[in-house]
Amino acid sequence: MLYRVLILRLLSLMPPELAQSLAERCLRIKPPWRFIAQYIKTDISQLNTDLCGIPLSSPIGLAAGFDKDFRMLNTLSLFDFGYLTCGTVIVNPQPGNPKPRLIRDVSDRAIINSMGFPSKGLQFVENAIKQDRTDVLLPIIASISGIDLESIKTSYLRLSPLVSAIEVNISSPNTAGLKVFHDPARLSEMIKMIREIDSRPLFIKLPPHNEEITEINSALSLASACIDSGANGITVSNSHPIEDDRLSVGHGGLSGAGLINRTLKMVSRFRSYLGPDIAINACGGIFSGDDVFNALLAGANTTQMYTAFIYRGPTVVKSMKNELLNRMKTEGITRLSEINHGYVNY
Ligand SMILES: Cc1cc2nc3c(=O)[nH]c(=O)nc-3n(C[C@H](O)[C@H](O)[C@H](O)COP(=O)(O)O)c2cc1C
Repeated sequence: MLYRVLILRLLSLMPPELAQSLAERCLRIKPPWRFIAQYIKTDISQLNTDLCGIPLSSPIGLAAGFDKDFRMLNTLSLFDFGYLTCGTVIVNPQPGNPKPRLIRDVSDRAIINSMGFPSKGLQFVENAIKQDRTDVLLPIIASISGIDLESIKTSYLRLSPLVSAIEVNISSPNTAGLKVFHDPARLSEMIKMIREIDSRPLFIKLPPHNEEITEINSALSLASACIDSGANGITVSNSHPIEDDRLSVGHGGLSGAGLINRTLKMVSRFRSYLGPDIAINACGGIFSGDDVFNALLAGANTTQMYTAFIYRGPTVVKSMKNELLNRMKTEGITRLSEINHGYVNY
């Protein structure tokens, strides 16, 4: 409440990137958050679950992009997420696209971005994880990306021993070069290359698709390529491509509450097509405990949020866990494992 009435209002008065960098600075100061965390953390055993053998306190994770350079691991780990996805990490430092590249549409609870992977680079991130990892008690997924096999291999080799799992992002709408991996043969080649290194949990973050039959078929063949080549699961999906003159580059990705229905449709389609054995992380428009419950019903194993964290603030996971518990009570379900993943078609 305090967050929405006071802090979000204050941040909304600033240009979005200034607000974001101010928030990041605050999140890098650990002591006050340690104190606040006592009132945020809730251990609810009914919500415990796992993702490819990684134990999670709940299926509510943070999506990639909020902590691109792993600089807020310690503080973010206090906010009760089931896991954190950090990155996307790029091998060499790069500034990203020119500003303006971040827009908030508060009435739609949306964010539009054309960040273009600003990154401090692999070496910086490696050092940051080594420095902070000992304090962090929850699973970390590192999001990596690149436009060629060599750079993905380099990031994988150096980061996978330091984290619980890797998510390869082939779906940023702001990096045209990633489209090479929208070809199932190239994607298979990349996954097989990784599988020759080791068998740690590996997820591929897929692009969104619409309801046209050609798009559906391409999406399904991409998902098949992931699983046939040895990935453990998919993240469905990323922000949705959009044209917007307010961005310096004229186009970007739409994130936020409006994406939920398409996310549920995509998740349930992938679950029916791929069967029960692969992991699906639902991402896009997850804003409430109801959204989490519906995503699990559609066939997801976990959910990831970005925009809800901005609009609902540091207590978002606590609130979502309570909402999820209430929904489970209404449905007569006591444990998450009782949800029949994938039996509802959206
Ligand atoms: C400002 C911003 C930066 C993002 N950066 C990344 C990124 O680096 N890597 C990535 O995989 N997704 C990135 N995303 C996409 C989110 O991880 C997520 O897929 C998307 O926002 C949809 O989820 P949401 O509706 O919960 O925000 C970014 C999103 C935003 C708003």
